[in-house]
Amino acid sequence: MSLYAIGDLHLHYQSELKAPNQLKNRIWKKHEEKFRKNCGKMIREEDTLVLVGDHSWGRNLSECQLDLQYISDLPGRKILTRGNHDMFWEVNKTGRLNELYKPGLNFLQNNYETYQDYALVATKGFTFEGPFYIDRRNRIVGWDREAEDHAKKLVKRELDRLRLAFELAKGDGFRKFILFLHYPPTNILEDRSGFTDLAEEYGAEKVIYAHSHGESRFHDSIHGEYRGRTYHLVSGDYLRWKPLKVLA
Ligand SMILES: [Fe+2]
Ligand SMILES: [Fe+2]
Repeated sequence: MSLYAIGDLHLHYQSELKAPNQLKNRIWKKHEEKFRKNCGKMIREEDTLVLVGDHSWGRNLSECQLDLQYISDLPGRKILTRGNHDMFWEVNKTGRLNELYKPGLNFLQNNYETYQDYALVATKGFTFEGPFYIDRRNRIVGWDREAEDHAKKLVKRELDRLRLAFELAKGDGFRKFILFLHYPPTNILEDRSGFTDLAEEYGAEKVIYAHSHGESRFHDSIHGEYRGRTYHLVSGDYLRWKPLKVLA
């Protein structure tokens, strides 16, 4: 039995593709076929696959039907978490999504799932992504303060959601945690954040995140061992469409 993770599938079976690069780039070419094949080779029915957001370019649920069906048809238990492009998924309608798609898909938000003796907790997260002002040597010399203030509000809301999930699991007796975020845990200006602090406070062993895709962004945040936890970027193009084995 194994736990796998990957993010940023950005499927578009029914919807208009918002990132034309996806069609031209070698790594993204027929990525859904590559990913399906890799899952077929790696994942068994008793395994769990966590999909860490940005599932579909669809703007509403009806534009995501085939994308969600594709995910549902992958082997193993599927757990989905929210990404910034998942327009079909409002937080307060998570229960309805779970009703509609059970038992094929599990939508995780403001709650937890289990894997062996671990609680899996997830939220979208948020990071300030600029705009930044750069000098001629590519050094950051400033940034948009208003955008930063707005980001702080979104970060706080996501931290509240995440703490709720940790508390629910803790209340049910869980002491081991894996944390899934869609956004990186830190922005490019930070060494640590409210998300890394919560991971440390609750003792999450691993922090799994996505959202950074395209080679220039792969190193926007933390990789590997850091302050007692292990951080993994699992965006699909970074992993070349092979899900990461998080736990055996
Ligand atoms: Fe994405
Ligand atoms: Fe994203």
